[in-house]
Amino acid sequence: MAFRNDFLWGGATAANQCEGAYTEDGRGLSNVDLIPHGKDRFPVFVAGEGSLETDQDHYYPSHQAVDFYHHFKEDIALFHQMGFKTFRLSISWSRIFPLGDEELPNEEGLLFYEEIFKECQKYGIEPLVTITHFDCPMGLVKRYGGWENRKLICFYKNLVRTLFTRYKGLVKYWLTFNEINMILHAPFLAGGVVLQGTDNTEAVRYTAAHHQLVASAWATKIAHEIDPEMKVGCMLAAGNAYANTCNPKDVWLALEKDRSEYFFTDIQVRGYYPSYARKELNRKGITVPFKEDDEEVLRENTADFISLSYYSSRLVSTDPEVNNATDANVFATLKNPYLDVSEWGWQIDPLGLRITLNALYDRYQKPLFIVENGLGAKDELVDGKVEDDYRISYLREHIKAMRDAVELDGVDLLGYTTWGCIDLVSATTGEMSKRYGFIYVDRDDEGNGSYKRYKKKSFDWYKIVIETNGEILD
Ligand code: BG6
Repeated sequence: MAFRNDFLWGGATAANQCEGAYTEDGRGLSNVDLIPHGKDRFPVFVAGEGSLETDQDHYYPSHQAVDFYHHFKEDIALFHQMGFKTFRLSISWSRIFPLGDEELPNEEGLLFYEEIFKECQKYGIEPLVTITHFDCPMGLVKRYGGWENRKLICFYKNLVRTLFTRYKGLVKYWLTFNEINMILHAPFLAGGVVLQGTDNTEAVRYTAAHHQLVASAWATKIAHEIDPEMKVGCMLAAGNAYANTCNPKDVWLALEKDRSEYFFTDIQVRGYYPSYARKELNRKGITVPFKEDDEEVLRENTADFISLSYYSSRLVSTDPEVNNATDANVFATLKNPYLDVSEWGWQIDPLGLRITLNALYDRYQKPLFIVENGLGAKDELVDGKVEDDYRISYLREHIKAMRDAVELDGVDLLGYTTWGCIDLVSATTGEMSKRYGFIYVDRDDEGNGSYKRYKKKSFDWYKIVIETNGEILD
């Protein structure tokens, strides 16, 4: 058998993309609540441009999302029907600390997640909890400037201590920051950092990254102190870079590209800033704001496992003539002529998943966990049914590749959670029409719809995959 007996099959979500109920039960505003759908989305998403207030002219998809807040029992029951062993969700920080810097938490927020975890427990589903998934209370953005400010480490420590204490015995697996490398690409989304009026934006990005890295190590330490059974993972938006040609310059560029993302896991898994990064930051004149016991905390609290999202490989070239860029999340890449693309231009590369898993395992020799993978596609609901064979085919090929990585290459893989197991709002575009789920939610891009849930064809398919521990994929 390829996969371990306790392989954690399941699905993944994020609070801001599914919960809705954005002002209910004491929840405070969060950075994602100010990111509108439509043409004005990207400047806010990346850099926090604009007034940072909501207005009547825009639609903000996180406000209602797919109303998981009021549907979680129904949704978790559906996950159970598919046989989920795990369910990945994230905490909305501003439900627990509405402004972010309070000393005492909001009990209603804590209760909400407690009920979810108990619901999971009822079905034997292991929660996998991301502490922050593109989520920073606006109180921390406005008063402190988000993760650029070192004080965020203290507020985060207060958050994690609260969560670990309260959910001890209910939650074993934690992830500290979703796609921590996103802080370099979209600092407002990933860290509430506003770039407007900043001269050296690269220095700001690395400062925020350092604070998150230190906070992540503190979270690992605090978790282990509160409950040695807890496993705390790092999380990387992964996908290896390919060189466009065998020109050594292209090969070198691909190596540099990979290093720029591994920078994060190198620190989180090995416990120190890698030599290539120290040199590079030095050359750029960027001083990383090391303070007090940062070095020791990083060194002594490395990640228990490495989790990753994988949507595609990346392609790079040094040739200025080769500039046919395609979309790939917010990670720029050239168009690879050997690969098909999704309706949103994301390249589809199952073998790239095997390559990525091997590269990570070769580098760190630590257990891996794929916590996001999937196809965003337009689904058609006809007579209550969605025939999403394209999704089945995408997932089948990726599961085969991961099976090869385990069975043929010996990669130690803990589990696999597909992205958006229930339809939710797209992070990059804010659309509902970019659907990933096994469960269709009646909701459109403008916020119309009944929120009614429908099982897609892939629902029954995934159930069999889980039942047979990945043996039957047809
Ligand atoms: C990952 C994020 O980058 O990609 C998710 O962690 C996101 O939050 C997913 O939803 C897919 O991206 P998109 O833009 O299709 O929703």
